[in-house]
Amino acid sequence: MRVPLPQHHARKAGLTPIGYARYSGLRLREMPLAFSAMHAIAPPALTAALRWRYATKSFDPAKKIPQDVFDGLLDALVLTPSSFGIQPWKFIVVQDPALRAELQPASWNQPQVTEASHFIVLAAREAIATAQVDAWIAHIAKARGVSEDSLAEYRGRMAGFLAAMDDEQKFAWASRQTYIALGQLMTSAALLGVDSCPLEGISPPAYDAALGLAGSGYRTVVACALGYRSAGDKYALVPKSRFDHTQVVEYR
Ligand SMILES: Cc1cc2nc3c(=O)[nH]c(=O)nc-3n(C[C@H](O)[C@H](O)[C@H](O)COP(=O)(O)O)c2cc1C
Repeated sequence: MRVPLPQHHARKAGLTPIGYARYSGLRLREMPLAFSAMHAIAPPALTAALRWRYATKSFDPAKKIPQDVFDGLLDALVLTPSSFGIQPWKFIVVQDPALRAELQPASWNQPQVTEASHFIVLAAREAIATAQVDAWIAHIAKARGVSEDSLAEYRGRMAGFLAAMDDEQKFAWASRQTYIALGQLMTSAALLGVDSCPLEGISPPAYDAALGLAGSGYRTVVACALGYRSAGDKYALVPKSRFDHTQVVEYR
């Protein structure tokens, strides 16, 4: 199925009509191959999108993210870089209203859980074992058309890195990778004109129970609500508060 990039999203992303024409008709998954520096958005467009986004407290339940846009957000998650490329995560899209209602009390009763168009739980691997390293090596070998033996040194480095950690340290490491996915998701959402709210105000054990994650090898880390802000969300108008560059950026 070919999914054209909606023109208004292309405009929001700062693509020129030429850039858009080149993108349209391409499958989302083919786009990275078609991308070149020529199509990069201008820095002011990036800053504007990042200033526009805010942790949305109130979503308009009637406004749903179109499927092609949501597919783009899923691509953003799946394309997240991770240490060794091992992708120690699972992204659980929770669309069942009953399940969302069950998660809400486990989320400080935050309304975003039930009101947002889409709700994603980001879970991390509990304890990455040799089997996962081997599966990853097999995957790379197939994707690159090389032998697994040719990746033996890489496999050894990965296995050695993981062997130096106990299970809790491995989960903490996998969780850090998962936060990169959260960041990439929120930035991508802003560029596509989609509102988001990251949610750490949740009970991961209660989420694990509701989602039946026991024994799956994954545990809940954080969640993200996605959709469109409601007209009455006063937080949309709160001025952005960030430290100045001079306070957080250093040159050496
Ligand atoms: C990892 C993480 C977890 C967060 N958890 C929540 C949350 O549970 N509920 C909420 O309303 N906001 C949550 N926030 C939003 C932050 O409070 C917000 O990003 C911060 O105050 C900066 O404001 P802004 O994102 O609107 O610019 C979270 C943010 C991050 C990065």
